[in-house]
Order: sequence, then C-alpha cells, then structure tokens
Amino acid sequence: MPHGDKGRGGRASIRRLLEMKREGRPIVVMTAYDFLFARLLEEAEVDLILVGDSLGQVVLGYDSTIPVTLDDMIHHARAVKRGAPETLVVLDMPFMTYQASVEDALRNAGRGLKEAGVEAVKIEGGHERTCEAVRALVAAGIPVMGHIGLTPQSVHALGGYRVQGRDEAAAERIRREAAALEEAGAFSVVLELLPAPLAREISASLTIPTIGIGAGPGCDGQVLVLYDALGLNPGFRPKFLKRFAELHDVALEGVRAYAREVRERSYPDAEHSFGED
Ligand code: KIV
Repeated sequence: MPHGDKGRGGRASIRRLLEMKREGRPIVVMTAYDFLFARLLEEAEVDLILVGDSLGQVVLGYDSTIPVTLDDMIHHARAVKRGAPETLVVLDMPFMTYQASVEDALRNAGRGLKEAGVEAVKIEGGHERTCEAVRALVAAGIPVMGHIGLTPQSVHALGGYRVQGRDEAAAERIRREAAALEEAGAFSVVLELLPAPLAREISASLTIPTIGIGAGPGCDGQVLVLYDALGLNPGFRPKFLKRFAELHDVALEGVRAYAREVRERSYPDAEHSFGED
C-alpha cells in the first residue's frame, strides 16, 4: 500500500481511523471546498477531508463562519464528494443548524448525508446540549466528529480567536467536554487552539482520535485549512500555521503573465489557435 491508510476497498473508514489511533499512526486531515482540490487531496491520499465552514472566510469572503448556511455547505460538499469519492468526507454543520434542538440537528445532519453524500458531520462544543445532539445523531446512524477548544461559531462569546484552556478551570472544562463527547459516541474530536500539553493529555486520555489545529504535536492527527496551508491567503499568519506551498505567488505570477501576453497580443499565438498553422 502506498502512503495513505485506505482500507481494502480503497475508502478510508471511520473504523480505520480508530485503528490508526490504536496503532499510533498520525491521521492527515485537510479542508476542501471544491471538486478539483478534493481530487488533489484524494490523489495525495489524505485520510479525511473536512468541508469546513471556514469556507465562509476562505471561499465566500465573510469575516467569520457565522453567515454560512446549510445550503452553502451542501453545495460545496457535493462538489468535494464528486472529486474525492474514495475519501472519508465530513461536512461541518454551520451555525444554528444544530444548536436550537435535537430535531434540528437530526434533520439538518440528515440532509448533509442524503444530499451531499458525505459520510459524517462535525459539530462544535462539548457541553451537555451538544452531547445530547451527538447521542441522537449517532443513534440515527450519523457519525459525528466533535470540535472543542476554540470553536469559531462562538467567536463573539469567546471574545476573539484566541488560545483556549490556558487556566486550570478552563483546561478542566475542556477535559470534561472531550470525555463527554467520547461518551456520547463521537468518533473523533477536533482540538483547536489549545496549549500543546493540554491537547497531548486529552489525546492520551481518549480512545477516539483527536485532530489538532493549533494544538501541538501530541494530537492523533492534524488538520489545516487547505488555502492557508498552500499559501493562498498570504495575510493570514497565525503562529500554528506552516505554509507548505506559496500558491498565491505562483498564481499571481501566472495571471500577470496571461494579462501581459493578452495586452501585447502574443497570446493566443498560432500554437494555441485553430486554423492558423
Ligand atoms: O471550518 C473548519 O475548517 C474547521 C477546521 C479548521 C477544524 O472547523
């Protein structure tokens, strides 16, 4: 088998992720929002693709994830699934599609699976109400990924995008949320913007995999927002972000070269025209 961790049928399964945790093999997660990048992530054999509601910022140009709708998510998740049919795809449930009631959570997550064809959903928070929704979804056959620490849909309540769990009371609350999500049946939990020692401790205490972003090396896997990791968003430079490519610069150079050649009439030339040979 090459680099990834696909099962015999090709598709990485939730069971496979749990095995990877047990075997101590790091889980590679990245976000995607469209067909071509999803196809690229499948070719690169990432273990799981998250259609994150970060699409609000990186695709739709909002300043938070809050305005994102379920229809937005389904539209993009369908494209991702078409590009990555063999990869486990998780749809991020947007703000207010699961918080008001368990019925909302069931109806809306059900739409994600039926209309987008994804294998699982992600919801934010680890308090009792969220765990109630997780239990109901899991009972209905919908796999759920949790998300605690910095939960971007609560950015206003949290007072900004900042590291969580820095004092003992906050750390203890996050430990309890992680345990409660596992107990409720989540198959994995994202840990966002946590001190590395706390994330390591939580990862060691759970039997389900943790997927970190800004939570240090002690998590069972890592997730990054695709456009940030590939350098398409050059102004965004949080401490945790490593840029693995500089696509903004490459793309800008390409567009400038195209514009130059159109303006000087050197493109299209005979090679790129029909009947001009
Ligand atoms: O929306 C998103 O992309 C996310 C990840 C950063 C975990 O929730």
